[in-house]
Amino acid sequence: MKLAPSLLAADLADIAGALDLCARGGVDALHFDVMDGHFVPNLSFGLPVLRATRARTSIPLDVHLMIANPGRLLDDYLDAGADWLTVHWETADHLDGMLSRIRARGARAGVALNPSTPVELLDDVLHQVDHVLIMSVNPGFGGQRFLPHTLDKVRRLRQRIAARALRVEIQMDGGLDRTTAPDAVAAGVDIVVAGSAIFGADDPLAAIRALRAAADVDTPT
Ligand code: DX5
Ligand code: ZN
Repeated sequence: MKLAPSLLAADLADIAGALDLCARGGVDALHFDVMDGHFVPNLSFGLPVLRATRARTSIPLDVHLMIANPGRLLDDYLDAGADWLTVHWETADHLDGMLSRIRARGARAGVALNPSTPVELLDDVLHQVDHVLIMSVNPGFGGQRFLPHTLDKVRRLRQRIAARALRVEIQMDGGLDRTTAPDAVAAGVDIVVAGSAIFGADDPLAAIRALRAAADVDTPT
């Protein structure tokens, strides 16, 4: 399993401290939640903060765009340092073109699905993505309760990827902690995103280790 702590839950007045912690924890990527107050009600951070973060770390930056009209800003987010770039299916009017643009720039392309959006809608783009992000809460806020029905979506997606022998990773985001992450990994999740379970803990480094240990289960192929 790969682990991507979500910066949203960190002390945003001390991003350098969060980056240091992630480096010491040997995480696989830093999850960077961009919210625009339109697609989701909340507003978080965007290009200037991504540039500042990029300048301070070599950890891969996993940018999750929760914004309307993501096509307008794809190149800007890639220029600002996104290594992985994920757009929501619900916002993407020209998904095929966006995924091609992301990959052409050498970044990993991802598509995110809200809890109510079926995985079967991705059948015609699965060969163009590096990862699919299954939202396990409604996007917009950290610290929400995990929605268990989303595990079935992971199982269905895992089957569809395996049936076509594709190399697509499954990422899950929202409400993942020591209790829910093992179920996610058992269902077929490759990349666990965790915000409050890490940065909300008294000892975030210990929380990283505990999350890894808890989710260290056999993954279906
Ligand atoms: C929610 C964000 C998540 C969020 C996860 O819209 O996409 O990445 O930061 O936070 P937790 O782990 O606290 O649910
Ligand atoms: Zn996210």
